[in-house]
Amino acid sequence: MVKDDIQEVVKKAYGKIAQKESGCGCGTTCHTDAKAFAKSLGYSEDDLSDIPRESNLALSCGNPIMIADLKEGETVLDLGSGAGFDCFIAARKVGVSGKVIGVDMTPEMIIKAANNAKEQKHENVHFILGEIENLPLEDKSVDVVISNCVINLSSDKKRSLEEVFRVLKPGGRIAVSDIALLKELPDSIKKNHKAYTSCIAGAVLVNDYKQLLERAGFNDICIREKEVSICMEPDSQNPGSNPADGYDNSSLSSSTVSIYVTAGRKD
Ligand SMILES: C[S@@+](CC[C@H](N)C(=O)[O-])C[C@H]1O[C@@H](n2cnc3c(N)ncnc32)[C@H](O)[C@@H]1O
Repeated sequence: MVKDDIQEVVKKAYGKIAQKESGCGCGTTCHTDAKAFAKSLGYSEDDLSDIPRESNLALSCGNPIMIADLKEGETVLDLGSGAGFDCFIAARKVGVSGKVIGVDMTPEMIIKAANNAKEQKHENVHFILGEIENLPLEDKSVDVVISNCVINLSSDKKRSLEEVFRVLKPGGRIAVSDIALLKELPDSIKKNHKAYTSCIAGAVLVNDYKQLLERAGFNDICIREKEVSICMEPDSQNPGSNPADGYDNSSLSSSTVSIYVTAGRKD
C-alpha cells in the first residue's frame, strides 16, 4: 500500500471505532469488557479507577505505563493516544507539576479524548491532532515517550522514530508496547487493509524494529517479547486469505508477537 493510502485507511478505521460505528482496533478480539481486558495487560485497579469512562476503548496491546517508570514533574508524550487511555493514567503519575501530551492523527479520536479530559477536569493533559511522522512538538521538549500499539500502524516507521528522538530531551526515554513479526508475512496479508488496521500487516520483524531504533540514534535498546499475539477483528478472522491461499490463523499467530520496547536518548 502507498503511504497516503495507509494513513487514510487507518484514519477511517479508527474514526469509526471512536464513534463506535464498527471495528475493534488491534491487540484485541473485540473485548466487550474493556476494564477486564486492561487488567489482563497489567493495569491496576488503582490505574483504572480514576480515568474517564470512555477513554479505555480496549485498543491496547500492552501496558507502556508499567515499564515507563513515570515520575512527578515529567513531560510525557503519548504517540497515537486514541481516546486518551494511557494519557490519563500517566497524568496521575506525573502530577500537577508534570504534563501529558497525546498526539493522534484521527480527528474523531482527538475530539473524544478532549471531551474525556473536560469530563474530569484534567488540566495537565492536552491532545493535539497530528501525525507521529511529523510530531507537532519542539526539539528536546519531552522526558518520556510512551505508545501503545501504534508504531506498527505508521506508514513511515523510520521517520516516526527519528521524530521521537528529535522531541526527546537528552537523557529522555521511550516505553512502548507494540506488535512485531517473528517471520515475514505473505503478500496477501501485507496488502490487506483489515490486516493493516488490525496491527498485523504494518508490523516489522523484531530485528528490523531494533535496527530502526539504532539508526534513529537510540541507546540502551531493550525489546522484550510477550506471548504470541493474534490481533484482528472477528470479521477478519483470517485477513487477506481464503482457503485457497493455504494460509490459516495458526500460521498467522506464529508470525506475530507483542513486544515491550525501552530505549534512551543519551547525548
Ligand atoms: C490501536 S489504537 C491505540 C490507541 C491508544 N494508544 C490505546 O491504547 O487506547 C491506534 C491509534 O493510533 C492512531 N494512529 C495510527 N497511526 C498514526 C499516525 N501515523 N500518527 C498519529 N496517530 C496514529 C490511530 O488514530 C488510533 O487512535
